[in-house]
Amino acid sequence: MFRTHTCGEIRIADVNKEITLAGWVQTVRKFGSITFVDLRDRYGITQLLFSESLNTELEANPLGREFVLQVTGTVNERSNKNTNIPTGEIELLVSKFSILNKSATPPFTIQDDTDGGDDLRMKYRFLDLRRNAVKKNLELRYAVGRSTRNYLHENNFMDIETPFLIKSTPEGARDFVVPSRMNPGQFYALPQSPQTFKQLLMVSGYDRYYQIVKCFRDEDLRADRQPEFTQIDCEMCFVEQEDILQMFEGLVKRIFKDVKNIDYADIIERMTWQDAMWTYGNDKPDIRYEMKLANLKFPAHTFPHQADISSLITGVDFKVFDEAETVIAIAAPGCSEYTRKQTDELTEWVKRPQIGMKGLVFIKCNADGTFKSSVDKFYPPEKLKAIAEAASAKPGDLVLILAGAEEKTRKATSDLRLHLGQLLGLRKPAEFKLLWVLDFPLFEYAEEDNRWVARHHPFTSPKPSDIATMIDNNPAIENAAEYLKHPYAGIKANAYDMVLNGNEIGGGSIRIYQRDLQEKMFAALGMDKEEQQHKFGFLLGAFEYGAPPHGGIAFGFDRLCSIIGGSEGIRDFIAFPKNNSGRDMMIDAPGAIDDKQFDELQIRLDLKD
Ligand code: AMO
Repeated sequence: MFRTHTCGEIRIADVNKEITLAGWVQTVRKFGSITFVDLRDRYGITQLLFSESLNTELEANPLGREFVLQVTGTVNERSNKNTNIPTGEIELLVSKFSILNKSATPPFTIQDDTDGGDDLRMKYRFLDLRRNAVKKNLELRYAVGRSTRNYLHENNFMDIETPFLIKSTPEGARDFVVPSRMNPGQFYALPQSPQTFKQLLMVSGYDRYYQIVKCFRDEDLRADRQPEFTQIDCEMCFVEQEDILQMFEGLVKRIFKDVKNIDYADIIERMTWQDAMWTYGNDKPDIRYEMKLANLKFPAHTFPHQADISSLITGVDFKVFDEAETVIAIAAPGCSEYTRKQTDELTEWVKRPQIGMKGLVFIKCNADGTFKSSVDKFYPPEKLKAIAEAASAKPGDLVLILAGAEEKTRKATSDLRLHLGQLLGLRKPAEFKLLWVLDFPLFEYAEEDNRWVARHHPFTSPKPSDIATMIDNNPAIENAAEYLKHPYAGIKANAYDMVLNGNEIGGGSIRIYQRDLQEKMFAALGMDKEEQQHKFGFLLGAFEYGAPPHGGIAFGFDRLCSIIGGSEGIRDFIAFPKNNSGRDMMIDAPGAIDDKQFDELQIRLDLKD
């Protein structure tokens, strides 16, 4: 037997027991004639004590960091206890040891606060994974997965695998493609999600499906995106939106309970997409803090049901606001005493190319009830007061105002709100706030092609009351500048996203299940009959054989884990992630393939510059 115990389980009650451990050498400390070694395995660290009698043997077989060691000895009570670790009251007095394998000096320290940079850690990911911090993340991931499987199993969901070598499933990204040797010149696409397969499973009558499954998307990477990532993918038959929302609120609450022991008793808030855009400028708002947008001016057609309060800012000949399509204010709590340097920094921040605004207007709401503004010469105090009130600013707050084109200004204000939330410590990682965003637009305008694309995906159903608008109107966009006035811009989808702390952790929809409506949807997206048949003939055909009403959702598993784990970067929650260029630094992929492989595939490489 290699070991009798693990390095994490010996306690004071085990004193005097003879045990054998196996693990990795974390540290070696020599004090005169005795040597202390910290031995680590997946379960913890146990201190080993090599007494003088082993010195000769240690000198002949010196220990180094990350050596694999097997030790036998007696458990001792420590004189110098370490209360920070569960095994800190004991140590193992070693009677014999054996080096099972040596290790080269690791390129970085295997500790919580490692000295290894990102690239180095990714290159030696197998060493990085030995670190406690990373291991904790993977343990959390495993716990989230286990909780998910239990909940879904208890609710009659069946885990069914779907293929990876398929043809394109559009989710808005590029496909990864795989050449077929047996069908020269033809390619499989890796699934961006199992979307069409899970729908086909509904046609087959498997009324509750789930899968924790890899998805592949060739898109630009960010902290919360990977080219291959994992979804908790689910689909249900005979459901309405409300059934789905309730079932998956249940899932997320169960995960919080099982993994964090949090009773998320709060009713999960719901917000329409319109309200989210109006109030936060964003379809995945972080609702852990207020700082809501005050829409001082906006184009009427974008929010037709909202009152126009632009008279607050117009009529004083301040051209910046007069000429802007949209003017939005937010109040930063407790920031009225920001120095010139601090306000200049915020101005520089909004002027960065990623944000792209021309400037920032301030109103300082002083604690004594007076106002001081960068636009004092245009606005008398009572006007400044009215604007501050519209932004729900209190004495001591700083009102920040952005002006420009609608979409850009809304996004910039939302980004500024998030930036301030971060600066002011309002985005607390240990606080969790869930939100459903509902009633998304069915279509999104694709500027480059001047046409409509599906906001979620083409299988999402329109709200029943909007079906006629879709069928009766021509999708063609005559005037690109005014696309928001096209009837299609107002069509709402039976689609929903779940948002956690300002991150989209899941999204889904009630699907189209009738062939004719699905064909109309494809046509609205600019697909002629031939293309529809070529790309989705299998699905249209299946809809002719008793397709039931159905809907579903997919959660970003990696994202969910990272946010629950208090981080917004998903890489640390994936055992073997890719870097921002989509490379696996450890195995050095992607890479070239052999000429023989090209020959077998009957492909000749001729790279365009
Ligand atoms: P969607 O495209 O919204 O929906 O994806 C679902 C969830 O997956 C996560 N996600 C990602 N996570 C990491 N890296 C990525 N590149 C990435 N892309 C998406 C997000 C997102 O909310 N088939 C539909 C679901 C459905 O309609 O049932 C779909 O895939 O958290």
